[in-house]
Amino acid sequence: MDTAMDIKLTVNGEPVAEHVDARTTLVDFLREGLGLTGSHVGCEHGVCGACTVRVDGEIVRGCLMLAVQCDGATVETIEGLSDSGEVADLQAAFEQRNALQCGYCTPGMIAAAQDLLVQAKKNKTVPTRDAIREHLSGNYCRCTGYHAIVDAVEAVAQARAGGK
Ligand code: FES
Ligand code: FES
Repeated sequence: MDTAMDIKLTVNGEPVAEHVDARTTLVDFLREGLGLTGSHVGCEHGVCGACTVRVDGEIVRGCLMLAVQCDGATVETIEGLSDSGEVADLQAAFEQRNALQCGYCTPGMIAAAQDLLVQAKKNKTVPTRDAIREHLSGNYCRCTGYHAIVDAVEAVAQARAGGK
């Protein structure tokens, strides 16, 4: 039985129209259908956060969402966040503070960190180290021990708030 469906969505600002199997996950669609391989696949069970992307302004696990559920949605991947310059300061801070080693977790980690910083800006708050750790607790890193990641996100949070 053909379970494929036509979907239309916006990905990183570009209109996309595709015919996709109803069982295709969002992250597989992005990687294999659109060649956007910045979103990584780790656990495929919603645990590791490597597949984190933004859908209609909210971060989601790309492995837990089906591509067909994104019909009509606006999807942003690390490629889009990077190209727009939205996360340039986070990317620089990660590099400067050695907050990445293999880099497998990094796109999802930066997408999740950006989500926290966007929320903080809306609420006019600066996240504490504990809040950063809590927010990133669903994004696993097997290399860094997390300390440098928290350092990097904290530095950007303070810089964006006009601090040091
Ligand atoms: S691959 Fe999606 S959460 Fe691990
Ligand atoms: S840098 Fe390797 S998993 Fe995070």
